Amino acid sequence: SELDLLFPSEYISNEVRAQLHPDLHVRVPLRAPTDLFAEDDTITQIRPLASSDYRRGHLSILSVLTVVTDPGEAAWVAQFNAMRSAPLTYYGIVIVDKATDRIVAVGTVFIERKFLRGLGSVGHIEDIAVDKNQQGKKLGLRVIQALTTISENSGCYKTILNCSDSNIPFYEKCGYVKKENEMAKYA
Ligand code: ACO
Repeated sequence: SELDLLFPSEYISNEVRAQLHPDLHVRVPLRAPTDLFAEDDTITQIRPLASSDYRRGHLSILSVLTVVTDPGEAAWVAQFNAMRSAPLTYYGIVIVDKATDRIVAVGTVFIERKFLRGLGSVGHIEDIAVDKNQQGKKLGLRVIQALTTISENSGCYKTILNCSDSNIPFYEKCGYVKKENEMAKYA
């Protein structure tokens, strides 16, 4: 059945999709595409967040990052709908393990409209997390590449994010550079 998506899946770069499984492009496709991946440990798909993703472990992947309180499915779906009702603003994406139908990586870019820079926009990357058992397989890199492309295709003059010192090397591998400081005031 069709998934109910946060935004059109065409916004996700085909180049990033292809790089998720580079093996496919090396091997000769003599068999059905699924067979091509038979030797791989994970067959994954990158796509927009869907209204049914609460059931695919969305919150448990986010809990890799920080404290997550489970609001229950109805409240989760209400938040999904609130994000979708702000058009061209919230782009949540997921990578799903097709064998288990569970989410293995998540990330968001939020598009902020400004008055400066000729009514420019800035993309804010937020809430990046990869399943502990799937880290180090370039899933985080693919999430950042997909979100950065969405930001740039939205006309953003820059894409920014906050991270811990220990994650700086990861973001440098994704093409980001350290700039200025983060300030925070927790309520
Ligand atoms: N230190 C040094 N290098 C790193 C690190 C690190 N901590 N993490 C990844 N890299 C390198 C990888 O080795 C790889 O390098 P290579 O291309 O030379 O092989 C490259 O960065 C890409 O790494 P991925 O395999 O794509 O990384 P992964 O899928 O594990 O995702 C992530 C990285 C998102 C940081 C993941 O480890 C994670 O979920 N960590 C816990 C949650 C977290 O900290 N999230 C980010 C918070 S910041 C934010 O949300 C804006």
